[in-house]
Amino acid sequence: MHEVCIHRGTALSLGHVEGCEIVCAYHGWRFDETGACTRIPQMENQTAIPAKARIASYFVRSAMELFGFSERTSEAATGDSRARLT
Ligand code: FES
Repeated sequence: MHEVCIHRGTALSLGHVEGCEIVCAYHGWRFDETGACTRIPQMENQTAIPAKARIASYFVRSAMELFGFSERTSEAATGDSRARLT
């Protein structure tokens, strides 16, 4: 997802995550995983959020998934909570 809020350009990394959405730290606009704005707290009618109110988002796939590896934790065997390749 693009790092900059479309509203006033605040870095979205300053915000926080609620469920599957990121909430901008400045005015609280919320964006879902597709980059669409889902809530503007200052608007009375949330259904009036324009479709163009969205930030660029990018599909991400982990390298492990691409190469067919799976992750399993060794926690049960060793008590170590770090993930390892199997
Ligand atoms: S700058 Fe992000 S909601 Fe205003």
